[in-house]
Amino acid sequence: MTKSILKVLNGEALDQPPVWLMRQAGRYLPEYREVRSGAKSFIDFCLTPDKATEVTLQPIRRFNFDAAILFADILLIPMTLGRKVWFETGEGPKLDPLSADDIAGLEIGDVEAILGPVGQTVANLSVALPAETALIGFAGSPWTVATYMIEGGGSKDRWNARRMYWQYPHAMARLLDLIADATIRYLVMQARAGAEVLKLFDSWAEGLPPPMFEDMVIRPTRRIVDGLRAAGITCPVIGFPKGAGPNYIGYAERSGVTAMALDHGLNTQWALDNLPERMPLQGQLDPAALRAGGEALDAEIDRIISAFRGRPHIFNLGHGITPDVPVAHVEQLVRKIRGE
Ligand code: CP3
Repeated sequence: MTKSILKVLNGEALDQPPVWLMRQAGRYLPEYREVRSGAKSFIDFCLTPDKATEVTLQPIRRFNFDAAILFADILLIPMTLGRKVWFETGEGPKLDPLSADDIAGLEIGDVEAILGPVGQTVANLSVALPAETALIGFAGSPWTVATYMIEGGGSKDRWNARRMYWQYPHAMARLLDLIADATIRYLVMQARAGAEVLKLFDSWAEGLPPPMFEDMVIRPTRRIVDGLRAAGITCPVIGFPKGAGPNYIGYAERSGVTAMALDHGLNTQWALDNLPERMPLQGQLDPAALRAGGEALDAEIDRIISAFRGRPHIFNLGHGITPDVPVAHVEQLVRKIRGE
């Protein structure tokens, strides 16, 4: 039996789309908060295989999603370049901001050792998951990871990262290559440990002018996909250039990804008309519609399913589930998609 998500990623259009949710392991689940509260820090939590395995399985037990996504974070990679990362409660991720001068001194460390516990989590999951559930591994895309490294955390408009691209193009190119090369090793490790699909999150692909989108988003993604293929990894790769708008076209043509995740702001009809007919597409429910629930949620699910009918489609949100979503709304979503 081929898992439904793997069928879709192989180009099949199914009558009933498979479903999983970005950030499906997370704070909207009481059982997640329970495990989280016992962890020393968020990074420590990500690097404790037993805990990470447990919270990855929680949403599968409750909702029987068609895929599990490895519990980890895109901000583990900076640690392999010798950068410190920590999470402050209520404030999100923190790093020491990176200057153009700092970039010259960066080196890739022992990725397989530093992130070895994540490999162990993947290995645990590939044994523990039900036979019909696909296992998705992931990493951040180099541009998005670079923005956090340069800014020292989240930022409103990624000003310093954008400025560095124009002002210190060589430093920026070096940083993206280093992140991409560390990421290739990280994803090869995940695939060899049992991840069946790999996803690249480019959460800050929005608002980039064409040359920058090409250099910062498309090329580094291509470098990762080529590196995986060169290492013999054949898994499908889902790219998520969030907010890319019309830049999704060039991304589809040149990044080398197998499939694309669409954010909720992308016009559905435009996507169907402009993106390759055979390329599997994932998305694109507004997380706020899931929060709202009720008839509006049902109607929006119907719209999305009908729009993608006849195309290879995986049902998902256009961005991560928020901590305020009632569990009952997720149950409603799964029942509705499965026609139960
Ligand atoms: O999707 C999953 O359930 C798998 C695990 C996963 C997490 N983060 C766990 C997490 C994945 C795939 C991510 C990706 C991630 N992390 C992205 C890309 C996707 C996106 O949302 O745009 C980004 C930008 C990050 C960086 C990050 N991690 C931020 C900005 C934050 C803080 C924001 C917040 O919600 O508090 C995190 C923390 C984080 N990563 C949490 C989880 C479940 C919440 C932290 C907690 O439990 O205290």
